[in-house]
Amino acid sequence: MFRIVEARFLAPEVKLFRIEAPRIARKRKAGQFVILRVHDHGERIPLTIADSDPAAGTVTLVVQGVGKTTKMLNSLGAGDSICDIVGPLGLPSHVEAVGTVVVIGGGLGTAIAYPTAKAFKEAGNRVISVVGGRSRAFVILEDEVRAISDELHVATDDGSYGRKGFVTDVLNDLIAAGTRIDLVLAIGPIPMMRAIAEVTRPHGIKTVVSLNPIMVDGTGMCGGCRVIVGGKPQFACVDGPEFDAHQVDFKILTQRNAMYRDMERASLERFQAAAETGSPAPAPAVADAPSSTAECASGGECRFIQRVPELAGVWKGGK
Ligand SMILES: Cc1cc2nc3c(=O)[nH]c(=O)nc-3n(C[C@H](O)[C@H](O)[C@H](O)COP(=O)(O)OP(=O)(O)OC[C@H]3O[C@@H](n4cnc5c(N)ncnc54)[C@H](O)[C@@H]3O)c2cc1C
Ligand code: FES
Repeated sequence: MFRIVEARFLAPEVKLFRIEAPRIARKRKAGQFVILRVHDHGERIPLTIADSDPAAGTVTLVVQGVGKTTKMLNSLGAGDSICDIVGPLGLPSHVEAVGTVVVIGGGLGTAIAYPTAKAFKEAGNRVISVVGGRSRAFVILEDEVRAISDELHVATDDGSYGRKGFVTDVLNDLIAAGTRIDLVLAIGPIPMMRAIAEVTRPHGIKTVVSLNPIMVDGTGMCGGCRVIVGGKPQFACVDGPEFDAHQVDFKILTQRNAMYRDMERASLERFQAAAETGSPAPAPAVADAPSSTAECASGGECRFIQRVPELAGVWKGGK
């Protein structure tokens, strides 16, 4: 069991967790992630390690509630526990002194980009950060990013904070102003990363993106996270998650991430319906649904179930 020592919302549906995981806190490097299960019948979801404190033995995760598992996780608070966390996984970011690095975070991508931006700064680079969000409420970790940046630009789609427009507009302006840029790191929704790649491609600016394919085991065994980079299959969990943006086949990534959309929607609807009515969700149409109520592998009953017992039936359905 991994105890949550701090939990607070940074934006609507976006929650920061500080969790006791001393061995991961000691070993992790920028760019790596963990795979966790909220309870022992839950699905495994990958989350980037946004920060760590080896002395306190904690790791920081920032979670956007987009589906059943992330929303379930975001309902936990300080004092609750998470069933299991595996990591650190994935290759660390390739960080060296290159000169000027533009780090671009779209929405939640800011939390994922932050540790690598910090590492680039510590390696002696000039760091120009660009953070974007739909509106002011969705701009996260601004103070943290400012503290490790030489320059910070904020853009919101609706103009409610910072510059009105997209992060691509800011990047275009930096390029048009003749800013020296040796490397761009862009992390956010797939359309954003794809757009950034198209901005930098004609200028020959090296660009790195962190991909978010569906993952299962996180160790290169299942093939779930297969992406095409430079025309060749790569497994994002062991060969990435960071790749050369100009080599990534974003079309295939988008198609693969949408493969289970109907099931994901149905799963979320069952979860929300059960949460609202307090009654167990109807049995899902999956063959391998676990039949017992969820109990954590440690032997104790899941802390989450203790807090919200009426949701135990939801987990009988798994995913
Ligand atoms: C290396 C890596 C690091 C990530 N880091 C973070 C992070 O720091 N914070 C964060 O909030 N999210 C992060 N994600 C995405 C996060 O794993 C998914 O949002 C989560 O798995 C969705 O699960 P769900 O049950 O809540 O939603 P679902 O109902 O399963 O899916 C909702 C949406 O999320 C996408 N998705 C589903 N499963 C996965 C999966 N295993 N991996 C990626 N996308 C998926 C689907 O395409 C769908 O659009 C990361 C993904 C990867 C691959
Ligand atoms: S998650 Fe299974 S191979 Fe990458």
